[in-house]
Amino acid sequence: MSLQRGRAFADDAETLIDRSIFSDPALHRQELARVFARSWLFLAHESQFTKPGDFFTTYMGADPVIVSRQRDGSHKAVLNSCRHRGMRVCRYDSGNAKAFTCPYHGWSYGTDGALLSVPEEEAAYGDGLDHSAWGLAVVPRVETYKGLVFGTWDTEIPPLAEYLGGFTYYLDVLVDLDDEGATAAAGVHKWRMRGNWKFGAEQFAGDMYHAYSTHLSSMIAEAPNSKGIRPPEEGFQVGLPGGHGLGGYPGYPYWHAQGFSAEVEDWIGSMLERAAERLGPARATGAVLIHGTAFPNLSLLWNRWTLRVWHPKGPDAMEVHSWAILPKSAPPAVRRALLLDYQRHFSASGTWEQDDAEQWNYSANGSDGFVTASLPLHYGMGTGREPNKNFPEFPGTVDAVYSEINQRHFYRRWSELMAVPHPAEEAASGASSSGSLTSGTFASETPASETPAPQTPVTESAKAVIA
Ligand code: FES
Ligand SMILES: [Fe+2]
Repeated sequence: MSLQRGRAFADDAETLIDRSIFSDPALHRQELARVFARSWLFLAHESQFTKPGDFFTTYMGADPVIVSRQRDGSHKAVLNSCRHRGMRVCRYDSGNAKAFTCPYHGWSYGTDGALLSVPEEEAAYGDGLDHSAWGLAVVPRVETYKGLVFGTWDTEIPPLAEYLGGFTYYLDVLVDLDDEGATAAAGVHKWRMRGNWKFGAEQFAGDMYHAYSTHLSSMIAEAPNSKGIRPPEEGFQVGLPGGHGLGGYPGYPYWHAQGFSAEVEDWIGSMLERAAERLGPARATGAVLIHGTAFPNLSLLWNRWTLRVWHPKGPDAMEVHSWAILPKSAPPAVRRALLLDYQRHFSASGTWEQDDAEQWNYSANGSDGFVTASLPLHYGMGTGREPNKNFPEFPGTVDAVYSEINQRHFYRRWSELMAVPHPAEEAASGASSSGSLTSGTFASETPASETPAPQTPVTESAKAVIA
């Protein structure tokens, strides 16, 4: 069984997944171009930047970037790679800077990427170095959704809110609960682990099925806090156009099952009541949203007040960046309780995080052998079912809580993008004469996709001017 036309699916019914998508180095190189350079990618939360010059370093796909606040209050992202020999011009996780000076030979760049100065410029280059052509590559589009800062290399995909589409209906339950909105707790947890990035993204998109197996020992340890409060039997998964997905349960008072003090429980309960007036009850109190993924690699846990990005590090490893996203209006005792609850369950120290990481580690290990690689994986849960009619206000296709509808949505979008070569691939291989990576441009024309048009179409070109 082998991949055809860049599809993730190994069958026409789209219920089997070819394992090579988790292990093949060539496919990994392709998805950096075809998926990551053509999607909106989460960069940071606005609350990480309070002053001009505040910066945060992260990745877009495998490309290191610096995100910073400019004097006009906007955010800019630039490639963290010197134009002279490629050295990282900034090796800090975050901070404040007026300029980034490359440690190798000392070229100095503004936070907007402009090349400001070059040591011994006259002796080294005479007047032969055009500063305007040798700045850091600037990410051409940066947009914000209610405090969440995203960037994309693709100049032609729809604006961010349109790209997120129906996912924003659910995202608001984390970032728009009241007038004050959300804030990121200081510090971003970062760690690396074995496993393809898609293991994390697809699980958070649609896999409630693993919870009682993978997390059983954590659940048993926490049982004394739960007071017998459990999720209802019948929950939901929601698959959205564009590959986004999420899942949860009908509303139940989950915050009484987490060992919080009465003060914290009261505040959460009343805050959700206020949110129901603001957002409508269907998504605020009528449902408890649990897990979700905005395609490709931003995932959330509403009930643990966190979001994270799965950065690819080769086909079989990822670097996770994880934030605690808390209601700004929460008093200090509530913030502390929510932060500790997040850290106990998720982040590098979380028991549930380690439960998941163990599965992805050995799933990676189970896909790189010769025989294992030839055996497709079963993604057929929930096919042929009638839609779940219990949540009529929800945007998207709603199914039962145990379903792989969201994983199938995710891999359909992945396949649509992977089916269309990125112009930079052709330029890099010499197949195109209209642009090249060395000229500082990704641009050229792309053949139309053979697949049906998704909500967010694969763009005709991804012009990312990097000078
Ligand atoms: S690599 Fe940056 S100045 Fe030489
Ligand atoms: Fe999990």
